[in-house]
Amino acid sequence: MSELAPAGIDEMAFATAHRVLDLAEIARRNGVEVGKYYVGLGQRRMSVAAEDEDPVTMGAEAARAVLDRAGVAGVRTLVFATESGVDQSKSAGVYAHRLLGLPAHCRVVEIKQACYSATAALQFGLGLVAREPSEKVLVVASDIARYRLGSAGEPTQGAAAVAFLVGANPGLMAIEPVSGIFTAEIDDFWRPNGMSEALVDGKLSLEAYLGALEGAWGDYRSRGGAGFGQIDRFCYHQPFAKMALKAHARLHELAGSDAPAARLDAGLALSREVGNSYTASLYLGLLSLLENDPEDLSGRRVGLFAYGSGCVGEFLAGIVQPGYRTRLRPERTLESLVRRVPVGYEEYRILHELYERPAAQDYGTAAATDGPFRFAGVSGMARRYERRA
Ligand code: HMG
Repeated sequence: MSELAPAGIDEMAFATAHRVLDLAEIARRNGVEVGKYYVGLGQRRMSVAAEDEDPVTMGAEAARAVLDRAGVAGVRTLVFATESGVDQSKSAGVYAHRLLGLPAHCRVVEIKQACYSATAALQFGLGLVAREPSEKVLVVASDIARYRLGSAGEPTQGAAAVAFLVGANPGLMAIEPVSGIFTAEIDDFWRPNGMSEALVDGKLSLEAYLGALEGAWGDYRSRGGAGFGQIDRFCYHQPFAKMALKAHARLHELAGSDAPAARLDAGLALSREVGNSYTASLYLGLLSLLENDPEDLSGRRVGLFAYGSGCVGEFLAGIVQPGYRTRLRPERTLESLVRRVPVGYEEYRILHELYERPAAQDYGTAAATDGPFRFAGVSGMARRYERRA
């Protein structure tokens, strides 16, 4: 059998919602010392969706940045990973497909398993590319994390999307074939049909996350995965920065390594600013690492841990490709953060409540954002999206 060409992540881009709330506003309102959020959770701000945006508009904006650079040649599949989907039947990806002007000869699907699904999408993409190396798979991971106002989960909300192209001979990161998987049914976090906010058993969710890390790492190692000391950088699913730090400390302990655990700072930077982006979060971490690590990471191995409540975990690793820096646009990432309009608690509360409008009732939305795509409202009980010139 001939050697397969390396496959992995070729291009990547990020988008976030167009409003931002400093967590000090929530701390003040909830009578909590702000240090609990800034230091205890390690989070600073969170992106908040304006009236005319949702996971489709954010996902399409991130994907457009990828396609502007890479073009659409070879893209025959779009996998939209989300757990905050906008329809029970129609894929968010089909809306994005039209907004992006993708060709008709493109299969489109939406997948869900809490924050894990973008990693399943990556694996599906690698499978398709192994079968036909001339094809590319566009993965769009996009989510808005929402909990009840005043709840313990409230400061861990957020909104963002990452899009990436999976292809042969990738420009950013070749994904190694070994991966470790762990699944166990558990009620740590879920969102019943008809509810727009997640239900969560916070303490249990922390334990479930760390248990899945242990299970996935054990599977990874037993299948010949690299040892802890052979991995140069680590990225974890990041509901809040402290969780990634706890995960890293646990892995270090599990691995019984004498070497000091590598610092995570560069990979944590982006999520500290936007909050939990659920299934996009791990890839926000990866983008943040590639853009912010001061060292040249060419040839270095990065370990990736994906966790989706409920729960599924996967540990995998990739090798950063020479010349990766020429594929990155950190100034674009920064611009997405800087252009967000700050809101105070009251405006945030109104936006939070507006998000709960009945899905099957017609309404229009005010043009509140200036991104390339907007959610215009519902008419004929169907969601309407517009592309700006
Ligand atoms: P809590 O119970 O209110 O917080 O909510 P706490 O009492 O555990 O305090 C948090 C940290 O702040 C602690 O640090 C405190 O000591 C510290 P730790 O001991 O853990 O290192 N602290 C302070 N630090 C400095 N100054 C102070 C101060 N006060 C306290 N003044 C909880 C925390 C995470 C439970 C809550 O935010 C929550 O329920 N969040 C949502 C669930 C979640 O994010 N779970 C994470 C794992 S599950 C997951 O990642 C999947 C998920 O993304 C969903 C999906 O898969 O789709 C959520």
